[in-house]
Amino acid sequence: MHDWSIEYDQWVPAEQMLRESLCTLGNGYFATRGAFEETTAEPDLFYPGTYLAGGYNRLTSEIASEKIENEDLVNWPNWLPITFRQVGEEWFHIKQVEVLRFRQELNLHEGTLLREMHFRDAQGRESELKTTRFVSMANPHLAAIGWQLTPLNWSGSIELLTALDGQVTNSGVARYRALASQHLEHIDQGHFEDDCMYLVVQTVQSKTRMAQVARTRIVAGTKGGISRKLQAKNSYVAQQMQAEVTQGQALKLEKLVLLYTSRDWAISEPLSDAKTNISRVQDFDVLLQEHTLYWKRLWDRCDLELIGNNKAQPVLRLHIFHLLQTVSPHTPDLDVGVPARGWHGEAYRGHIFWDELFIFPFLNLRLPEITRELLMYRYRRLPEARFAAKAAGYKGAMFPWQSGSNGREESQLIHLNPKSGRWLPDHTFLQRHISSAIAYNVWQFYLVTNDKKFLSFYGAEMILDIAQFWSTIATYNNTTNRYEINNIVGPDEYHTGYPDSKEIGLNNNAYTNVMAAWTIQCALDLFGLVNEQRLHELLQKLHISEDDLTRWRKISERMYVPFISGTNIMEQFEGYDTLKEFDWGTYRNKYGKAIRLDRILESEGENVNNYKASKQADVLMLFYLFSSEGLVQIFERLGYAFKPESIPENIAYYEERTSHGSTLSKIVHSWVLARSDRKKAWDNFEVALLSDLEDIQGGTTAEGIHLGAMAGTVDLMQRAFTGIEIRDGVLWLNPVLPEELQCLKLQVRFRDHWISLHITSDIMTVRLAKSFSKETRIGYRKEVYTLQTGEKRKFDIRR
Ligand code: BGC
Repeated sequence: MHDWSIEYDQWVPAEQMLRESLCTLGNGYFATRGAFEETTAEPDLFYPGTYLAGGYNRLTSEIASEKIENEDLVNWPNWLPITFRQVGEEWFHIKQVEVLRFRQELNLHEGTLLREMHFRDAQGRESELKTTRFVSMANPHLAAIGWQLTPLNWSGSIELLTALDGQVTNSGVARYRALASQHLEHIDQGHFEDDCMYLVVQTVQSKTRMAQVARTRIVAGTKGGISRKLQAKNSYVAQQMQAEVTQGQALKLEKLVLLYTSRDWAISEPLSDAKTNISRVQDFDVLLQEHTLYWKRLWDRCDLELIGNNKAQPVLRLHIFHLLQTVSPHTPDLDVGVPARGWHGEAYRGHIFWDELFIFPFLNLRLPEITRELLMYRYRRLPEARFAAKAAGYKGAMFPWQSGSNGREESQLIHLNPKSGRWLPDHTFLQRHISSAIAYNVWQFYLVTNDKKFLSFYGAEMILDIAQFWSTIATYNNTTNRYEINNIVGPDEYHTGYPDSKEIGLNNNAYTNVMAAWTIQCALDLFGLVNEQRLHELLQKLHISEDDLTRWRKISERMYVPFISGTNIMEQFEGYDTLKEFDWGTYRNKYGKAIRLDRILESEGENVNNYKASKQADVLMLFYLFSSEGLVQIFERLGYAFKPESIPENIAYYEERTSHGSTLSKIVHSWVLARSDRKKAWDNFEVALLSDLEDIQGGTTAEGIHLGAMAGTVDLMQRAFTGIEIRDGVLWLNPVLPEELQCLKLQVRFRDHWISLHITSDIMTVRLAKSFSKETRIGYRKEVYTLQTGEKRKFDIRR
């Protein structure tokens, strides 16, 4: 690993699928896994997937004599294929040769994937292969491969093959393989000009059409003319070229690909636009230059520099890189959300979860135009969320736990436990807290950007409608004189019901209840903020009456929060304290640290619901999302005397009972310890940092990256260690660097300003670098300072 690259110097078949995920290239519009050009899908070895942002399709499968429908992120035709052979012999494939030298490099600064290989075939012929690939950030429809073969001890006649392969299915995730997987149907294919070919396919249900056009040219290294043979079979189109190569001379080939779909704006029809535009694109080198320039501009805004920690630096850049490949400046107008696993594989079917909560803070402080668009993805799906609330007997908007194309609930109803081989009911869809996460995200976006127009046009409508949902799912308990929320599931997905109960869901999950109360409090606070006429219009539109508002006020002051009796520790949900303690020692010795207890216990005929064992941070989420002052305010309004001094007890209690079966968990644990225990915070950060690079969950990264954890690690640097918080229009700073860092350099965009921060353990330097307006306010240790554009201020931060 170098500061700006991830490198592999050996080919390791067992790591190939993981590396394909990590070496995925994308531009926010589409992404392609880092598979080798000569490979096709082979279980557990190669999986060349191409995914379109928001490119979903539904299929019905029959499992255990039940019909179930799933919406999947579709694997589109593979545009990568390039290989060669000696006339009359087998096509080149990495598996068939002896690899003498290997180097693969993901260059993060330039957004390129390189491979260099020296190999020997069965006949003793040695060759060198060099490939360079990019998925253009400059033109979201474009991707290209530079492919170069040098015969080292031979000369002769070879055949080259370039193809567009639509004979693909969704088969990247072993657990889903029993499900229907044929999402594409063939529409059209052919050749044009001398060097171009095209393939058109369509999803069978959502009817999204994709046209791919490829232009392949040999640009150097062959004698004489090139003859081409054309091939077209169902959903597969190829060109075979014959070329004479000479020992020591590199044969260079360039393949440019354009990809258009029926979801695109400003086109007539995907194929005709793809064909027209392929004749307009320039050569590989020029396109590569434009692409790297675009990345440079992104890095100028988004980089984060660490001094004194060579290990974390490249990994954080890898995380920023994948974030920007998933959502980018091309995201606005695509009507997509941000998928938990990137557009990097098929895990979780490309669905959108609450992971946004971990992802938006980075974007808010760098590229808020992207967050705005991702919030619009939610706004456009309000009608579906209203329908879901109504169907469940509530009012307002109830957003789905898993969202895809149109915002209906996409959670699977049954899932396969790969450990036991059993299909089991899945009740995680009861995670109603997702709606609060959306309200929280709207509010944070507003705090950072001060975008009142967004708040008034769209944001307020979401917050009000979500508050209305909470006010109707909450029920009043006469005995306690408090409101309760029952039959739901909290963030900890291990607990979906009470031991031996036939009913699904749990009562009064502390996190859910506090977030519901916060959402209602936030909705009520809008009354002092959004223009009166606009609010009136919204209340009318959403059918929110005076009676409703009266109920909101009561709930905002009387929501129930469970505590473990005789302590200041919030009870994860009512009854958690009555569950059995879990034997962590034995299971950790047997299965390692980050373990999926739900699967293990089920395979042993047990049930994780019986134990005080959480998959991930649940109660602790509250300390992640709110400062201790913020939390005290919420609790005061609710009539609970919650003291910040009790936060460490809460953390210690749940630390002992959490398995970190979700990569999000370590982010939260690191965050909540950042001030009280810097050593432990760093240890947790390091685990989160390696979640994907080292695939700590044992095989999950091969199916797609964990974008929440990736963004979360960057945000730990950005906000937790700098102490950034926005209150009353002031950017408050309160840095505490971990001992492992000498210096942290970054810039953040706060409202109209770019503010650069340079932090060491002693000194914090803040500079108002660029600005649309003249000045801004920053806060440090209870003092507010006004900075003018260009002004720099130093603070002594020794404690
Ligand atoms: C976690 C959820 C998360 C989802 C997608 C699950 O394993 O428990 O909190 O939203 O993964 O990342």
